[in-house]
Amino acid sequence: MTLQLQVSEMGICYPPSLFSQIAGDICSKGYSVVENAFDQFSLQQLKSFVLEQEADKFREAGIGRNEQHLVNQSIRRDKILWIEGNSLQGKMWLDWADQLKSQINQNLFLGLNYFETHVAHYALNDFYRLHTDSFRGANNRILTVILYLNENWKSEDGGELVIYPSKHEKLKIAPRSGTLVTFLSEDFPHEVLPSKADRYSITGWFRRSNPQIQPHCV
Ligand code: OGA
Ligand code: MN
Repeated sequence: MTLQLQVSEMGICYPPSLFSQIAGDICSKGYSVVENAFDQFSLQQLKSFVLEQEADKFREAGIGRNEQHLVNQSIRRDKILWIEGNSLQGKMWLDWADQLKSQINQNLFLGLNYFETHVAHYALNDFYRLHTDSFRGANNRILTVILYLNENWKSEDGGELVIYPSKHEKLKIAPRSGTLVTFLSEDFPHEVLPSKADRYSITGWFRRSNPQIQPHCV
């Protein structure tokens, strides 16, 4: 009980410069990678929340939305659990995302107004093939955010996120605890290489309902 009160009162702890760093990165190159984005205690809270969830609540992840939602194991193998905010840790993450959304809207005029988010678990040899999170012009998912929760991740554990900023550029990111990745959902093809250890992340997408908005940086 005492611990839970601390969690609800504190929220996620992060350096004061975090949001302006992300906004600046998105503005200049469209993506942002920040290591040690949250303090250890916040990361532990989120990780224990993920591990406390019953394995049978996780569902095989699909591709496409609604009626086009398909489970295709040759494309992705992870299992997911949507976060609704009915737990303290879930609420803590949603509150943090709401603050990021405000800062991004102030700096980039993206008009983000909705956030959907899930926990993902990649077990041995799970992967997610090359994809983008949103089709260009579809205006559904605008900004992707991923937080990794894996302590003591070793290079032989694989499971890297690979982002392709352009045809000739390749960015490999180890899913180490506290690494936070943000990118414009339409612009960056990416994939998850086969994981050789249990790999946990929280992934979220900001959407906007007004397609008229023209983003620009200030
Ligand atoms: C996704 C995704 C990447 C990761 O869920 O769409 O690309 O590193 N996840 O978990
Ligand atoms: Mn993706």
